Amino acid sequence: VDSQFDQSYATHSCNARVWLPDPVEVWKSAKLVKDYATATKTLFLLLDDGTELEYKVDPHTNNLPPLRNPNILVGENDLTALSYLNEPAVLHNIKVRFIDSKLIYTYCGIVLVAVNPYESLPIYEADIIHAYRGQDMADMDPHIFAVAEEAYKQMARDQQNQSIIVSGESGAGKTVSAKYAMRYFATVSGSSGEADIEERVLASNPIMEALGNAKTTRNDNSSRFGKYIEIGFDKKHRIIGAHMRTYLLEKSRVVFQAHEERNYHIFYQLCASSHLPEFKDFKLGDADDFHYTNQGHYPVIDGVDDGKDMCSTRRAFSLLGIGESHQMEIYQILAAILHLSNVDVKDHSGDRSSISPDNFHLVVFCDLMGVPCEEMAHWLCHRKLQTTTETYVKGVSKTNAVNGRDALAKHIYARLFSWIVGCINNVLKSAVKQHSFIGVLDIYGFETFDTNSFEQFCINYANEKLQQQFNLHVFKLEQEEYMKEEIPWTLIDFYDNQPCINLIEAKLGILDLLDEECKMPQGSDDTWCQKMYNNLLKQNAHFDKPRLSNRAFIVHHFADKVEYQCDGFLEKNKDTVNEEQIHFCAIYIAACHMR
Ligand SMILES: Nc1ncnc2c1ncn2[C@@H]1O[C@H](COP(=O)(O)OP(=O)(O)OP(=O)(O)O)[C@@H](O)[C@H]1O
Ligand SMILES: *[C@@H]1O[C@H](CO)[C@@H](O)[C@H](O)[C@H]1NC(C)=O
Ligand SMILES: *[C@@H]1O[C@H](CO)[C@@H](O)[C@H](O)[C@H]1NC(C)=O
Ligand SMILES: [Mg+2]
Repeated sequence: VDSQFDQSYATHSCNARVWLPDPVEVWKSAKLVKDYATATKTLFLLLDDGTELEYKVDPHTNNLPPLRNPNILVGENDLTALSYLNEPAVLHNIKVRFIDSKLIYTYCGIVLVAVNPYESLPIYEADIIHAYRGQDMADMDPHIFAVAEEAYKQMARDQQNQSIIVSGESGAGKTVSAKYAMRYFATVSGSSGEADIEERVLASNPIMEALGNAKTTRNDNSSRFGKYIEIGFDKKHRIIGAHMRTYLLEKSRVVFQAHEERNYHIFYQLCASSHLPEFKDFKLGDADDFHYTNQGHYPVIDGVDDGKDMCSTRRAFSLLGIGESHQMEIYQILAAILHLSNVDVKDHSGDRSSISPDNFHLVVFCDLMGVPCEEMAHWLCHRKLQTTTETYVKGVSKTNAVNGRDALAKHIYARLFSWIVGCINNVLKSAVKQHSFIGVLDIYGFETFDTNSFEQFCINYANEKLQQQFNLHVFKLEQEEYMKEEIPWTLIDFYDNQPCINLIEAKLGILDLLDEECKMPQGSDDTWCQKMYNNLLKQNAHFDKPRLSNRAFIVHHFADKVEYQCDGFLEKNKDTVNEEQIHFCAIYIAACHMR
């Protein structure tokens, strides 16, 4: 949106209303009390609270404050209907709809904008779904169901596969929206022969959330992985199956959580159910008792009953046809990971460490994983090293042993996660040939915390790429629309985030330098950081160095500036595990794979 379009000087005449930037309210309204005279570079304004103001126009930019829309337009259900389409106009319109009428949805052309109401609204019941069925987008109030209907209709009418892409920062409501879209398809397209396939497609959601969502300080139910699910339809547009792909699970969360954050929900669900007879052998207790679940000091989320949620998780597994015995194997591995977190490592001089083979948690871990305890204890504290001529075994320091233990836990969890995804895909695979599909993409949203690391960097990089996809698609589509209707138009100069993407992924960009540094025997986070300063500071306007740190860097993302701490990037990027450790555990997980 180019606000300059409508900002001809003539429109800034007496009685015109404008928006002024405000440190508290972001934008506040004012009215011109005189025509704007270019010579004076001053606007004479009257604020809504009655104060008068002389507003100096910046002589370098000559930018006049954005104009307000006439009242009659405010509250429009499509932002493109506004005369002035500038940032404050967009925000004001969305705000008015939400505050005055509890309307959370607004269109902007082909895009649906959703405001997170943070309360449950009575707008998602089956009767509302049926009200949207078969209707034209333009005839109905903006709604996620209208977008879903549009996708469904176009798939059926034009024989074209469709995708709904949900984007927004962490906590914006992407996952909730994606689920409503899926529910719409399940409701309007009764399944063919196979009973309740649509119910099973929906049942994949609580499972993926239990294993891939966690509490962060931004969102109690934050997705820590990306997901693209394709819902398959037959010739008669009935759901016949689904297939999902997941992207980059945040593994580090399995072994570490920041203050007031949690590990994946499933661990707390298990601990809350540890008293159940079927879970007795897991020897679990409170989430507080395990290192991997107590680091955030936040075992219970307001309004969440982990015990109850465990029942939902189990029910969803069962609905999918993943039976009790398979489920028990999954829970068993999860319990094993919790015990692994409490395996204490003893420190010895000379970079050596040890674990007693009768350490309680080690014994339970080995028992649950079906691995020999003595070997496990040995390989947690030793490493096999290979030179060109020989192999030898060397003890490792306590720190390295603990890091190795954590790497093993992350590895097991990631394997389990992808095994479950594979399992769900198997169950949801359609027996007959799929005619068409509707895809739904729901990734982890853009995020910035007090301390940001490799995980935030990857998440924000994914969002940067998605934003680019969105720009290209929306502007391309809009232009095609104009050409079709033969409306005269000029190319709108939209914000292109390619420079930021180059900074991250081009040769000698952030990732390239990181990969190079990981190959260096003496590579370190600090030297990598230094190389970035040397190579990128002058070259790329999207890269900055914080004034008070030599171990951090700033990226100007499309959504915000984010400062990343270099500490830990190399280790996380290498993501190595001790082969000997996984050798044992892999057998067990591989056995799961076979079934
Ligand atoms: N349409 C809605 N109606 C009611 N509550 C909502 C709605 N959308 C979101 N919420 C609330 O906001 C919370 C966060 O939403 P959601 O988990 O969908 O965010 P997200 O965009 O997927 O974030 P992340 O990127 O962290 O995964 C939900 O748990 C829910 O409480
Ligand atoms: C996450 O969302 C699911 C489904 O909306 C809900 O059942 C669950 O209780 C939520 N969990 C948390 C921790 O908010
Ligand atoms: C839609 O996807 C299916 C696979 O699910 C494919 O066979 C079909 O050719 C695609 N249709 C179009 C129009 O691309
Ligand atoms: Mg989400």
